[in-house]
Amino acid sequence: MLPQASSSAHSFEILFGVIFWFSLISFLAVSTAIVFFVIKFHRTRRDPFKTPFIHGHTVLETSVAVGLFVVVMIFFIWGWADYKKILNAPQDPLEINVIGKQWLWEMEYSNGRKLINEMVVPKDEPVKLLFSSADVIHSFFIPNFRLKQDVVPGLYTTLWFQASLLGEHPVLCAEYCGSAHSKMLATLKVVSKEDYDTWQKQWEKAKTQKVEEAQEDAASMAEQGKGLFTQKGCTACHTVTGQKLIGPPLNGIFGKEVELQDGSKHFRDENYIRESLMTPGAKMVKGFAPLMPTFQGTLSDSEVNAVIAYLKSLKE
Ligand code: CUA
Repeated sequence: MLPQASSSAHSFEILFGVIFWFSLISFLAVSTAIVFFVIKFHRTRRDPFKTPFIHGHTVLETSVAVGLFVVVMIFFIWGWADYKKILNAPQDPLEINVIGKQWLWEMEYSNGRKLINEMVVPKDEPVKLLFSSADVIHSFFIPNFRLKQDVVPGLYTTLWFQASLLGEHPVLCAEYCGSAHSKMLATLKVVSKEDYDTWQKQWEKAKTQKVEEAQEDAASMAEQGKGLFTQKGCTACHTVTGQKLIGPPLNGIFGKEVELQDGSKHFRDENYIRESLMTPGAKMVKGFAPLMPTFQGTLSDSEVNAVIAYLKSLKE
């Protein structure tokens, strides 16, 4: 079984187990009865062959109906009580906005920090997720937490949890949302409260010292860009091996001409790549659908520069 990594995982597991075993035992009981009656009352064993007239049994029928109704209501009330717990977050939880896009997850912290396909949360602290979708219906599924929430365009949906197990937990999209649905994966990292605070403080410090940071990182921009390319989910749609996926392959394209949707030719230079990241529909490569999400507000200027540096470094 998967580890139980959230405060609600255990109670969901118990309810699931009760319903599962009740269903299995009921199924076996009914199947056994069917087989027993088939054998016992098989036509060749009966003499005479005529089926006798059978009267209903009011007491038996009523008690079965009432009994099953009670069982179903117990499951319903039990499930509702557990469900209500994950709907109503305790006071002052850590709030994280989650945006589902074809085909990545964008996490936004209140301090302005944005992560793609990655979420970091402190252990044993209430965390509230606020979901929205930029396109179609997605579903945020954390198997180890036994939690799943639909992410619907034009509507905020929420979920809260308290992570109880340190480490990395996989997040999946559980609503079919297009060709790269199965690649819409994220990692939820649970760290100690101290590590979480340090992690945020370091970033906030770095943000204020952005100029110095940029100079420090200048030497390895292509490497940074390569990291971003995977981390930001580009690999779901673009290869760097020449193979066509949902989007055009991106190796050896820099500085070369490309044919656009309207038949015109365009150089793929720095401005072209920047525009493709920020306004993906502006200059569509011929033969591809306009499916790319914008990275406006997701990639900082230095990150755009790093991605361009990486694409420049790729040969055909
Ligand atoms: Cu998003 Cu499936």
